[in-house]
Amino acid sequence: MVENYIVCNCKQVSYNDIAEALHNHTKFDDVLSTFKNIQEVTNCSTGCGGCHQKVLDIISEIMSGANA
Ligand code: FES
Repeated sequence: MVENYIVCNCKQVSYNDIAEALHNHTKFDDVLSTFKNIQEVTNCSTGCGGCHQKVLDIISEIMSGANA
């Protein structure tokens, strides 16, 4: 169980927001296209961009963790 925390400070997007958006995103293509989708849904990484890698890491982590 991962503790919820803010991943994107600019847009106040939390780990749970990303996880939830991922679960609503049924078609997993690749990390980058999924990232774009998550970005549209949550607005994460649309400010300074400093969280870009963090968001990518979380997406790949959740994607590789099967149907968590
Ligand atoms: S921390 Fe996410 S865009 Fe700045």
